[in-house]
Amino acid sequence: MKDFIAGLPKCELHLHIEGTLEPELKFELAQRNGIALPYATVEEMRAAYAFDDLPSFLGVYYEGMRVLRTEPDFYDLAMAYLRKAASQNVRYAEIFFDPQAHTSRGVPFDVVIRGLRRALMDAHAQLGVRAQLIMCFLRDFQAEYAMATLLESLPYKEWIVGVGLDSDEKGNPPAKFAAVYERARQEGYLLTMHCDVDQENSVEHIRQCVEDIQVNRIDHGVNILEDPSLVQQILDKGIGLTCCPISNSYVTDSMKAEGIRKLLDLGVRVTINSDDPAYFPGYVQENLEALELSREELLQVQRNAFEITWLPRHLKDAYLAELETYAKQ
Ligand code: HPA
Ligand code: ZN
Repeated sequence: MKDFIAGLPKCELHLHIEGTLEPELKFELAQRNGIALPYATVEEMRAAYAFDDLPSFLGVYYEGMRVLRTEPDFYDLAMAYLRKAASQNVRYAEIFFDPQAHTSRGVPFDVVIRGLRRALMDAHAQLGVRAQLIMCFLRDFQAEYAMATLLESLPYKEWIVGVGLDSDEKGNPPAKFAAVYERARQEGYLLTMHCDVDQENSVEHIRQCVEDIQVNRIDHGVNILEDPSLVQQILDKGIGLTCCPISNSYVTDSMKAEGIRKLLDLGVRVTINSDDPAYFPGYVQENLEALELSREELLQVQRNAFEITWLPRHLKDAYLAELETYAKQ
């Protein structure tokens, strides 16, 4: 099964580029930028990755990205991920980035996006892996800061396919960002949003996402199972869910494998992704292995993924054809 998964043409739709910062690169960038780290070795650094819920993970995640300062830093970060992704036969990725995690500590927006964009171009040319960027707003900051970030992104609109919402969900419902999302839609951005697993008011947040904000996609979202009418709406609208089993096992009580499989059985467009693989060990290959799905289920997960990408129809069809060729072999 490992080999079957390895050969499968894959798609990754829930991946925070800052969450791919492996300890080795963190040390290299710290040295490059003259930043002191409170660890002497990779092992010590990994040992400090002690988290058991979303807020405790986020503390480690934001602390770690202090080493990212210049355009080449963002280039190296994205290039390292795309090399890893290509090695796992990821054919296409939609990559989140968190501009406010950088602008809030004095790194300009254009430094971040230029570095990432250049890596995406080089990876496509050199490795054959295609990728697009999704700009996430940090939901624990004020909506006004998200709006300012949205406006700052407009000169780079051609480089950003859509917007997302991440960081700490507690007390930060989708409704807080309704005006930001409305403006983003008007600007032509596609819309997704984290509905993290087992949050306070998870179901109400998913409802706001689907009915009020009317997103194109939901990141995580497995708590939808608690409300059959929401499941029906998601089915009717063809909204995809980007699930992340290994991530779930670190910030909740389990991988939520049963729920993910149930949603797949119900015909929901479930996809499997790695979220923050430098912190929740496992890239997309390992996440697919972890669920112990059948061949047919694995193929369905990848069909769902290519189908719900934010690519033009002809490119979706090309990847889907590649997948069907693999299925027949
Ligand atoms: N949820 C919320 N915020 C995040 C995540 C996530 O899965 N990963 C990085 N920031
Ligand atoms: Zn995420």
